[in-house]
Amino acid sequence: PPYRVGVIVGSLSRESVNRRLALALQRLAPPEFEFFEISYADLPLYNRDLDTDYPQAALDFKDAVRSADALLFVTPEYNRSIPGALKNAIDWGSRPWGQSAWTDKPTAVIGASPGQIGTAVGQQSLRSTLSFLNARQMTTPEAYIHFTPGLIEADGEVTVASTEEFLRMFMAKFLEYTARVLTVIPQA
Ligand code: FNR
Repeated sequence: PPYRVGVIVGSLSRESVNRRLALALQRLAPPEFEFFEISYADLPLYNRDLDTDYPQAALDFKDAVRSADALLFVTPEYNRSIPGALKNAIDWGSRPWGQSAWTDKPTAVIGASPGQIGTAVGQQSLRSTLSFLNARQMTTPEAYIHFTPGLIEADGEVTVASTEEFLRMFMAKFLEYTARVLTVIPQA
């Protein structure tokens, strides 16, 4: 397939509903996409004193981000923002100054919550960070998934037809968006 998408799941939980959502999105994606997960659980806490001597885990993380043609963020909302571990990873990817891995990457943002507004506020927080980092963002369609029990099985199978159709459409749009960005903006 022509496009490799790095998947960044914002939850470290073994029971994560966002991980289920990420699996569902991969199952429903067009064949032009292939996926790999970018993990960040082993990163230390970001400290700018380490900018001159980046830890190997952070170098590996940045390489993984750079190697992706596009990035799919699938994240919960924590206290009306994004989880700290995810923000920590984004910070590592953005430094040292002038060497950010996020610049011009085509990105999509989606999330699931048992709460009624389904990560809308957390996604806005992520979007302002991605804006500052000069990542490209698919701005529509937006996707706020209200996660009810059984909506997505552990293997990523979606049990509600209208949700399945919506997620399929979301990934088709993300493919269109990625193709457009990569045509217009030469990647580093
Ligand atoms: C939450 N949760 C939550 N939900 C929400 O809709 N808005 C919020 O601000 C928060 N805040 C929050 C903070 C913390 C520290 C936790 C642990 C949880 C609930 C959250 O949506 C729920 O636990 C999801 O299941 C988390 O996603 P994963 O880990 O299942 O993918």
